[in-house]
Amino acid sequence: MKRIVFFLFAATMLSACRVSPEAELEMRVENTLAQMTLDEKISVIHAQSKFSSPGVPRLGVPELWTMDGPHGVRPETLWDEWASALWTSDSCTAYPVLTCLAASWDKELSGLYGRSVGEEARYRKKNVLLGPGLNIYRTPLCGRNFEYMGEDPFLAGKMSVPYIQGIQSNNVAACVKHFALNNQEFKRHRYNVNIDDRTLYEIYLPAFRMAVQEGGAWSVMSSYNLYQNQWVSHNRRLLTEILKDEWGFDGAVLSDWGAVHETDGAAQSGLDLEFGTGTNGVDVNIENAYDYYYLAKPYKEKILSGELPESDLDEKVRRVLRLNFRTQLGGNWGSMCSPEHFAHCRKIGSEGVVLLKNEGSVLPMRADAGKIVVLGENAIRPMVVGGSSSSLKTKYEITVLEGIRNAYPEAEVIYERAYQGEPKVTGNYNYSLYDLTDPRSDEKLLEDALVAVKDADYVIFVGGLNKNKQQDCEGRDRLSYDLPYGQNEVISALATVRPDMIYVNMSGTAVAMPFADKVASIVQAWYLGSETGNALADVLTGKVNPSGKLPFTFPYMMEDGPVRTPAQYPGIEGEDDMWQVDYSEGIYVGYRWYEANNIKPRFPFGFGLSYTTFEYGQMKASSKTMKERLTIQVPVTNTGKVAGAEVVQLYIQDVEASVDRPVKELKGFEKIYLEPGQTKTVEFVIDQSSLSFFDAARHEWVAEPGEFKALVAASSEDVRGEVLFTLK
Ligand code: BGC
Repeated sequence: MKRIVFFLFAATMLSACRVSPEAELEMRVENTLAQMTLDEKISVIHAQSKFSSPGVPRLGVPELWTMDGPHGVRPETLWDEWASALWTSDSCTAYPVLTCLAASWDKELSGLYGRSVGEEARYRKKNVLLGPGLNIYRTPLCGRNFEYMGEDPFLAGKMSVPYIQGIQSNNVAACVKHFALNNQEFKRHRYNVNIDDRTLYEIYLPAFRMAVQEGGAWSVMSSYNLYQNQWVSHNRRLLTEILKDEWGFDGAVLSDWGAVHETDGAAQSGLDLEFGTGTNGVDVNIENAYDYYYLAKPYKEKILSGELPESDLDEKVRRVLRLNFRTQLGGNWGSMCSPEHFAHCRKIGSEGVVLLKNEGSVLPMRADAGKIVVLGENAIRPMVVGGSSSSLKTKYEITVLEGIRNAYPEAEVIYERAYQGEPKVTGNYNYSLYDLTDPRSDEKLLEDALVAVKDADYVIFVGGLNKNKQQDCEGRDRLSYDLPYGQNEVISALATVRPDMIYVNMSGTAVAMPFADKVASIVQAWYLGSETGNALADVLTGKVNPSGKLPFTFPYMMEDGPVRTPAQYPGIEGEDDMWQVDYSEGIYVGYRWYEANNIKPRFPFGFGLSYTTFEYGQMKASSKTMKERLTIQVPVTNTGKVAGAEVVQLYIQDVEASVDRPVKELKGFEKIYLEPGQTKTVEFVIDQSSLSFFDAARHEWVAEPGEFKALVAASSEDVRGEVLFTLK
């Protein structure tokens, strides 16, 4: 008996002494740091190759391998070059672009995406996957909008959280990029953002804050541009004061590739790990010895001479080790190109597709269609390979034409090009060249298409942008809001003959659609990755009821939007090719702008149609006054004949405020699946953060007592109910 009591006592004591995994991690970090020489410390804070930094072999610390991100795991490059290593074992699952994920408004699906792509990164032995991209959609011309999550900070932030947690559940770090204010590609290394603090805190930072605080991201990438006339990688306010001190970020800050410009700034800003120096990230790649990185020998010399303190170096090493160790844990070896991953890709794609117009219920397509004519270059064009750093090599890519043929094995499916864009499909890599050249003239292409569509049951035109340079691609912005390659005219001509035409738009950003009134149906199809054709066909045929909603506004014209003057975009050129960009629209970005100025867009933020209909019942609030929080409930019923999903959106309006505030702001969303006739009650919790604005003078968030409205809506334009309440 005595023995048993003793054992129980000992066991209790032991478990009381057991340290938490966090404390254990910190002990390992401190232990390792204490044993490192100055040279070893310097070695781990800069790259040794295009995508890796060395570990400390003497102490058993492995190398740290990063890789793009964010839509799949980029194929291997040569050690010191961007060019493909020409491996044959690095084809991945290419997932839909992040705008598509944002358009699903489905947090669970975002977790699935993160877990799935994280498994692929793990399999490829990557410690860090370079994504998600969380820069706010400010202008439709930004070349990288497709890699980001739209115009609203709440949507982008909340959607990023499960994605990050999903990746990291594989012990692969997410790297949230590009922090911060990288909202255009034009002169991305040479523009300075002039912005007030309120706008910074309300619009451009919240998604990053949520990614760090709620998502627990283990790394962050500093952006190329300047802020306060200082490159972001040298900017102490952003990297240390805000990210680390205010938000408590304990991970590592990686520079974007080639974003560091000198030693002192990089050493003192809070940057932890230097990558890509000697390259502009796109086409310049000067010969560069890694020892001469700004955080390599030059930094060491400054420490030895006493010019810079070693304590800053230690802090960087700590963070790099912490990142490294976090990604060495777990017994999961990941998996690559599994049937499950392709199934995830198809599901995410079909859930993110947005039905924008469906006159005469042309869609869903009938199962007994006999003849289908598919038109447009994007129906046959491989897209996964485009876009620059997010370019992928996938095991297979189902084009739209193939997807329609798969869905209609019995039907006659005819393809006509109708227009020709840039027929050469180029990616970052020499393995990926396709040539889609068609010898016919533009007139002949259109003529042949006009003949083909005459007696078809369905005519589907697949156009849009194509991830080529200036068409949704890193490094260059678009040159115009219009579709390229004369598509406006071609689509209009075809729609005159076939007004029942279905227009499928591929893009990760808004485009002008002057032909919108002439076609029966419009489908926003983003870039859907490996399963593009199948995912799209699922929606067109009604196998999947569309439930995506726009994560950004489609204005009629660029001029309707918030960014209107050269000073706002692309900026004003100063000395030495440095540009000043004024964010003078302030907090009025996206729907906040259109609503405040009473400008009706073609398709509003949060909008998307379904093959069924949803009725919103009476809204109920837990109380008429609020102290800490308030609960809002709304029953939603599927009143149509088919099952479907609805994204229920909660917006808050500050009825009486001492400062200028947007008409309303998104503060909650839930996606619910309903069988025909089924009702579910959606619940939202409103707290002080939902009501606050950022008071720059006091440097704090303020919720002013007074009246607010909670608005439940099916889109930013389609408010279905409201309750008034008072904050005490
Ligand atoms: C891009 C990053 C990318 C990095 C590595 C840079 O040019 O801006 O998004 O992760 O290259 O490829």
